[in-house]
Amino acid sequence: MGITKRPFGTLPDGQEATLYTLRNAGGFSVSVSDFGGTIVHILAPDRKGQFQNVVCGYDSVEEYVVADGYLGATVGRFCNRIARGRFTLEGKVYDDLYINDGPNHLHGGKVGFSHRLWSVAGTEEGEEPSLTLRLVSPDGEEGYPGRLDVSVTFTVRADHALAIHYEARTDQTTVVNLTNHAYFNLGGYASGDVLDQVLWLDAQSYLRGDENLIPTGEMIPVDGTPFDFRTPKAIGRDFFADDADLKKAGGYDHCFNFTDWQSAGRELRLRGTAFDPATGRKLELFTNSPCVQLYTANFLKNPAFPLSGGYPQMTQHAFCLETQKMPDSPNHEGFTDTTLCPGEVFDYTTVYRFSAE
Ligand code: BGC
Repeated sequence: MGITKRPFGTLPDGQEATLYTLRNAGGFSVSVSDFGGTIVHILAPDRKGQFQNVVCGYDSVEEYVVADGYLGATVGRFCNRIARGRFTLEGKVYDDLYINDGPNHLHGGKVGFSHRLWSVAGTEEGEEPSLTLRLVSPDGEEGYPGRLDVSVTFTVRADHALAIHYEARTDQTTVVNLTNHAYFNLGGYASGDVLDQVLWLDAQSYLRGDENLIPTGEMIPVDGTPFDFRTPKAIGRDFFADDADLKKAGGYDHCFNFTDWQSAGRELRLRGTAFDPATGRKLELFTNSPCVQLYTANFLKNPAFPLSGGYPQMTQHAFCLETQKMPDSPNHEGFTDTTLCPGEVFDYTTVYRFSAE
């Protein structure tokens, strides 16, 4: 148990990336790169005690630099989309965010936090090893106001959980929305599609998106729709339903709002579970974030970038549970508040706990 590290490749500017592996006494391990704060491997046991990597990734940093998809990355300064790359904050218009997704801004821009080399702010050895990465995003970077000082701590707990703790501080009023973009496949990342994996989400509503997946502002009750995961069901059960919201996104790619998100406090709550009947692996999602983006890897199909070991990218071969505030929040009354002021701390935690049954 503890932390080991190894070289993970060279960035175009000559800087070296490193891969840190955090392991507990039971052999559960998580590897994170300082490039993008990226989760590269999670080795979790199945019901027979066999360990497999349950997240999609690449073999070296060179691929993470150029490939799309944000595999395993820490995404910011604002995850998901901001319509037309513009918003108004304290009466001032910010309209120079980088447009990288149709007419919209996605996942922090041209060089978001997912594509930066973070520094190591600290490590803890021992039974529950942790790694803290830090990034300072200067005022004006990617069009956002304020110098944002971000730290993300990855902790491997004794109970086979990965805890991710996000903190950010600013010197001017700004907007922040941070997440991790791990692509999970509980059968092992190279085991086929995830349509038989069974999901439960504690979400009463989801956000409708337009044809470019920008929220229309409507929060749709999940009741009677393919988006109802309040009783566990296979991801594939309603995946091909004749539903306009599913069709627009090519599958699930929607923000699910947790039941009681408006009043839920700081407490970490169990908000989701995923289960793979074939291997018995189970994932529990605990968070104090108000929402999660369920994304079923609908765009994971770039033949130019095979995954680790040469396994091809294929749609629906993974699911993402990106805990977050609502996409495009700065442009919608009644959405989650993504404003961060000087003196405040953006402070959220998400735990992915693995077991087998
Ligand atoms: C978005 C998708 C996008 C994916 C990869 C998800 O968070 O909702 O629309 O394709 O990230 O960039």
